[in-house]
Amino acid sequence: MSKKLEIIKQKVIKCTNCDLCKTRTNSVPGKGNFHSNVIFVGEAPGKNEDKNGEPFIGIAGKKLSMALKEAGVSRDDVYITNIVKCRPPKNRVPTAIERETCQEYLKQEIAIIKPKIICILGNTAFNSLLGGSEITKFRGKLVKKDNQLYFLSLHPAATIYNQELITVLKKDIVKLFNLIVKLKNNKKVKIDIDYTT
Ligand code: URA
Repeated sequence: MSKKLEIIKQKVIKCTNCDLCKTRTNSVPGKGNFHSNVIFVGEAPGKNEDKNGEPFIGIAGKKLSMALKEAGVSRDDVYITNIVKCRPPKNRVPTAIERETCQEYLKQEIAIIKPKIICILGNTAFNSLLGGSEITKFRGKLVKKDNQLYFLSLHPAATIYNQELITVLKKDIVKLFNLIVKLKNNKKVKIDIDYTT
């Protein structure tokens, strides 16, 4: 792991910046390859993640791993993190204050890894990073904002009880990695939404 990411990890582990530190078992720093071309950003840790201190290791994580496998990518090749690094009680959606308090960690992760694309998984990440809502309408799209590319997709948890959505998630992830190959080869990609002001 890069030294700078290790420093963030240690800060996240000890963080007491919001009340979620009172109810968590473990905080959950981002994890993965710091040379990755993509950062996946979910909402917040769930029960399994809270227990083990690792992102996306429960059922939703299995769905994400399946979708990555479909695209020929291993989890070890990518970096996975969340908007909020501690589990909200009963898995409620993190509040605006919790998200704001935690945002500095994600900003630093992005600044260190410098991903070609940030893959937004679900509404909380969509809203926190781009002010968006209704991810189901926008999923599959490539967005540009302030010189950073974002790819929008579903939260893997949405696919747990819906077989059709797992197909959609897999399709999105395949598209994401096709875009990354193009970017690596300096080919033009189609920006679907440009938020740059
Ligand atoms: N859901 C998330 O958004 N993140 C995790 O790490 C696990 C489940």
